[in-house]
Amino acid sequence: MARIIGGLGTSHVPSIGVALDKGLADTPDWKPFFAGYEAGKEWIAAAKPDVAVVVFNDHGNSFFLDRIPTFAVGVADRYTAIDEGWGPRAIPDFEGAEELSWHFVDKLVDSHFDPLVCREIEVDHGLQVPMELFFGRPDAWPVKVLPIWVNTIQYPIPTPQRCWDMGTVLREAIESYPGDERVVIMGTGGLSHQLQGKRAGFLNREADLAWLDGIANDPEHYRNLRREDYVELFGSEGAELIMWLVMRAAMSPKVNLVHKHYHAPASMTGAGMIVIENA
Ligand code: DHB
Ligand code: FE
Repeated sequence: MARIIGGLGTSHVPSIGVALDKGLADTPDWKPFFAGYEAGKEWIAAAKPDVAVVVFNDHGNSFFLDRIPTFAVGVADRYTAIDEGWGPRAIPDFEGAEELSWHFVDKLVDSHFDPLVCREIEVDHGLQVPMELFFGRPDAWPVKVLPIWVNTIQYPIPTPQRCWDMGTVLREAIESYPGDERVVIMGTGGLSHQLQGKRAGFLNREADLAWLDGIANDPEHYRNLRREDYVELFGSEGAELIMWLVMRAAMSPKVNLVHKHYHAPASMTGAGMIVIENA
C-alpha cells in the first residue's frame, strides 16, 4: 500500500517562478519570501517522497473559457511546463505517476466523480511554482507527479464540500494502491488576492493567518463555508484556497502543523506555506 507522508499547502504566484528565472531570489524584495520556504525544502528532502500529488487550477493556459472541466486528472507519463508569456522556462519536464493516476481515476469514477482524464496536457505555474518552491531547481525532479486540476476560474466553481470529498477519495486511492510509494499532497493557490474588479488589490492578512492554523487544526470550519464566503474573505482569486481542502481531506482528522510561513504581498497575493503530518 502506498503511504501519505505529508500534506503541503502553498501559494503558486507566477512571478515567484519569474523571480527564480531572473536570479532575484536574494534581492531585498524576494529574500524574506524565499527564506520562509527553507524549512519546507529541508522537510521534503528528509521525507524523500516518490510522488507529489499537486492540486491546482489552470489559469487560461491549458484550458480556456471555451472548455473548462470542473475536475481533471492527468494520467500522462510526462508533462511539460507551458510558456505563459515570459518565454520558455529552463525547468525539466515532470514525470507522471501514470499508474497511480489511473488507479485514482478508477476510484473517482467508482465514487461517482467524473473527471476529465488528460493523457496529454501542459502544466502552468499552478504546478510549476509549488514544485520549485519545495524542490528548488534540480536537473530532474526527484518525484513523479499526479496533477489534479480544479476549476477556480469560471463560475460555478466546485463547492468546498466537493473538494473535501475528492480528498477522501484521493486518500482511499493512495492507501489501496499496491505499491510502496511515499506520497506528498500539495494543495496550492491563495492566499488572499483579487486581481480584477472593484476590489482589485484586496488582501486580508488576518484571514490568511487564521487560515494557516485553521486548515490544519479546524478544517471543518473551512469545509462548511460557502464559495461566496471564500470570495468575501480571501478575494475572487483567493477562492483558490478551496483546493487546499482536497489535500486536507486526504490527511487524518488530527494533524501536526510542522512548518508555517506567511509573507505579504508576493506580487498581489498573501503568500503562505504549511507542512502538516498525520498525528
Ligand atoms: C497572482 C496570483 C495567482 O495565484 C495567480 O494565479 C496569478 C497571479 C499574482 O498575485 O500576481
Ligand atoms: Fe492562481
